[in-house]
Amino acid sequence: MSEQKIVVLGTGGTIAGTSAQAGDNIGYTAAQVGVGQLLAAVPGLQAAARGALWAEQVAQIDSKDMDAAVWLALAQRCAQHLAQPDVRGVVVTHGTDTLEETAWFLHEVLPSAAKPVVLTCAMRPATALAPDGPQNLLDAVAVAAAEGARGVLAVASGKIYGARDVQKVHPYRVDAFHAGEAGPLGWVEEGRVRLAQDWPPAADLPAQGAIESIAPAALWPRVEIVVSHAGASGALVNALVRDGVDGLVVACTGNGTVHRDLEAALLQAQSRGVRVVRSTRCAEGRVLPKPGDALPDSQGLSPVKARISLVLDLLRQRG
Ligand code: SIN
Repeated sequence: MSEQKIVVLGTGGTIAGTSAQAGDNIGYTAAQVGVGQLLAAVPGLQAAARGALWAEQVAQIDSKDMDAAVWLALAQRCAQHLAQPDVRGVVVTHGTDTLEETAWFLHEVLPSAAKPVVLTCAMRPATALAPDGPQNLLDAVAVAAAEGARGVLAVASGKIYGARDVQKVHPYRVDAFHAGEAGPLGWVEEGRVRLAQDWPPAADLPAQGAIESIAPAALWPRVEIVVSHAGASGALVNALVRDGVDGLVVACTGNGTVHRDLEAALLQAQSRGVRVVRSTRCAEGRVLPKPGDALPDSQGLSPVKARISLVLDLLRQRG
């Protein structure tokens, strides 16, 4: 068989960010440096890949601006590369801000997730005094090349996370990610992977990929997230329903509870055919459903990930 390779897909983010003033950690512009240049700046990357490296720029954006069109383009490139027998895995360089959403989208739609797709990022731009991107990239490539690695993963600050649980929990700290009660899948130490848990179980991988059949971004259903909070009302939901929203995810208080005024509007929206899903705004844990719940829960997904699953569900329903 020909030499195995790791494909690195660039999408932008702080890992590719630069500031006019060297050492500025917050006044920088994300998504400035090409993925080829990022790879060239990391000594030892080729050795970590245990084979060839191939770089491709899929997008160049600040991930706060992530959208369906970029997700589709990225997922299609991942699927095409993963289908090649000589590709061992894919690494995606990405902004930290919506990394967990992209990870969950890829988890939901990729057909070949039996190979690893490893998202990585940085909290400091490439021009920082101590950029974290190069080490994260090196670690991500080591994970993509690791024996048995599979599924959609995220690697940052020496930790490996699964797509379901990874979450950005800090706006500034270099160690900005967490996997809540699930904890990290493992660590990368001096290029070696040490697992605390197994790679994501086969049952968690999508049985068959959906990417080929997903509608163009312009045809995606509109799903919005609303938050239940003290003093909440139904005004936002009513306006969204009037505006033709297809689905609503509610970031609920505690165990899926909703302010009574907001709840009344949600129930009315549901009776008019809008799909409503309850998640929790708590940082950890999941909504525990009770018999007779009028609004379904998100099966443990955070509000932003529940939104992605609801979009895909609505697309499947439309056929
Ligand atoms: C982004 O998400 O693209 C910018 C912020 C970051 O990567 O930390």
